[in-house]
Amino acid sequence: MSARDVSISALSRDYLIFNILTLFPEFFESPLKTGLTGKAVESGVIKVELVDIRNFSENKHRRCDDYPYGGGSGMVLTAPPVFRAIESVKKDNVPLFLTSPSGRVLDRDFIREFSGKEEISIVCGNYEGVDQRIIDRYIDCEVSIGDYVLSGGEFAALVIVNALSRCLPGFMSNASSLEEESFEEDLLEYPHYTRPGEIDGISVPEVLLSGNHEKIRLWRETQSIEKTKRVRPDLYSKYIEKITGD
Ligand code: ADE
Repeated sequence: MSARDVSISALSRDYLIFNILTLFPEFFESPLKTGLTGKAVESGVIKVELVDIRNFSENKHRRCDDYPYGGGSGMVLTAPPVFRAIESVKKDNVPLFLTSPSGRVLDRDFIREFSGKEEISIVCGNYEGVDQRIIDRYIDCEVSIGDYVLSGGEFAALVIVNALSRCLPGFMSNASSLEEESFEEDLLEYPHYTRPGEIDGISVPEVLLSGNHEKIRLWRETQSIEKTKRVRPDLYSKYIEKITGD
């Protein structure tokens, strides 16, 4: 966890419940059993309820797609099974997201806004798109994980689950030991090193072996700033604006 996540962590509750409405519940099996996410599920820090939209289809082949009115390529996720699936989980004060490349982009502001929630529901978009009436009737927020198109909204739903879960105090064991340093808000992480001290003639930077904490802190800060300037000029400008008060 980086120091800049801590302000978000402080806003979070102890646990988070996710209801994921999907055509492919099996997609989530392995990720929800793996690593820190698996531990969080086991310990009850997060609970993920998978709702199979196909169970709400009245088609004998459990189909949930149909051709678009007006023509055009691709299929559309139909409204009736999704309406019924949503009705089966719908609760007041539980935000309902739809994963979609046309949504609000998931970023730190988004995480900050929703990390205090107790429960969140996510409909995974699929095919060329979903019947607009699903959005109009039920969806609080369409969420995109970036300006590219994935083959299914399940990938994005997992990203949302992970990005929100890792803010929970019980998700990572070292979360509370970190203190936020405001200068890091808009900076990328500094480089990390661990043993061995040398591999193929490549050594760990001397300063990290110096034991001088202030020197190390300054080195890391400089590395962060330089990397941000190089690979994320947009973030770097924000950072400069913030520290100069412009
Ligand atoms: N479905 C397809 N592409 C997506 C994206 N970029 N974000 C969220 N859902 C998507």
